[in-house]
Amino acid sequence: MDRPPRTIDEIDTPAAIIDLDLVKRNIKALEDFLHDRPVHARPHAKTHKTPAIGRLQVEAGAPGLTCAKVGEAEAMVDGGIDDVLIANQVVGPTKIERTCRLAERARVSVEVDDATNVDEISQAAQRHGVAIGVVVEIDVGGPRAGVPAGKPALSLARQVMVRPGLDFVGLMAYEGHTVGIENFEEREAAARAALAPVIETRQMCEAEGIPVREVTGGATNTFDITGAIEGWTELQAGTYVTMDAWFRTHVGHVFAQAFWILCSVTSRAKPGYVHMDGGRKSIAFEPTGTPVIDDPEGLKIEAVAEEHLHVKMLPGAPDLRPGDKVRVTPWHGCSTFNLHDTVYVLQDDEVVDIWPISGRGRFT
Ligand SMILES: Cc1ncc(COP(=O)(O)O)c(C=O)c1O
Repeated sequence: MDRPPRTIDEIDTPAAIIDLDLVKRNIKALEDFLHDRPVHARPHAKTHKTPAIGRLQVEAGAPGLTCAKVGEAEAMVDGGIDDVLIANQVVGPTKIERTCRLAERARVSVEVDDATNVDEISQAAQRHGVAIGVVVEIDVGGPRAGVPAGKPALSLARQVMVRPGLDFVGLMAYEGHTVGIENFEEREAAARAALAPVIETRQMCEAEGIPVREVTGGATNTFDITGAIEGWTELQAGTYVTMDAWFRTHVGHVFAQAFWILCSVTSRAKPGYVHMDGGRKSIAFEPTGTPVIDDPEGLKIEAVAEEHLHVKMLPGAPDLRPGDKVRVTPWHGCSTFNLHDTVYVLQDDEVVDIWPISGRGRFT
């Protein structure tokens, strides 16, 4: 076919697809939750890596996006986002130079936890005549970097305040080690306990006259926990916008699954099984779980090979034929987006657009 597909049936597979109405509904659900609170979203682009989705989030009220890497931030700015927080240490002359160049055309903030790094960024920012926003990362117990809360964070904040070319934005912490706790009350207690020292550090800064404009962090599974902490200002939830099979076990009642890999049945030759053309090259493989087929019922993915899915037909499974199309829900949405160049945008199974996932593969 030499024209783009017009309906889901015409899409060549495997292919990344999103339901635009559900994406917008997820964005609205988060904005509705934040509406009466002194907290705004800065959604993490690491999930969709797609500027067009980021623009919807900004149109809905976010001041900008969170990004994992300089390259992801460059892709978002190229795609029309004018305010990005790189929620990672930016280390080494190449990345610092790129960050400063990006700051010539967008508002750019970075995360720091090292005094020498602060000086290097300050010197580069002065050379470029730009101001780089800076958040001090605080270690809250997970497998991430960051300085300890309290005096070490305060001392770094002091340094950022007096270095030319830097704009001290505030504090950042990510409570990722708490997001997988099944029970809500236990998750809430763990996240609040982890983040309390960040709020105390905020108070220490302010007691010294250091203004803390943002306290930023938070995830999809803790949006209603971190987003409700007094003194928190910014929520970095990312996966909520399209969801995946893991996240929805926690917050599927709030955010709808809106992203799938569309696969085609390739074989019914083996009794009791159906084979499909998705595999590890198109659906990220995660040791913690397997992709899921919700609709039709009765199909259980037993193995994910490089180029195919090995799917057991349970009682009640439909009589699928080669060529039939099936939506497969990835276990991990972020790393699955990373495997695709484009995402087909559907409304009622019509293809209304095809968006570049221009932030994919941007790991530097
Ligand atoms: C720095 C940071 N902020 C926020 C998030 C939250 O993302 P999600 O909503 O997908 O849990 C993550 C997830 O890895 C992260 O690394």
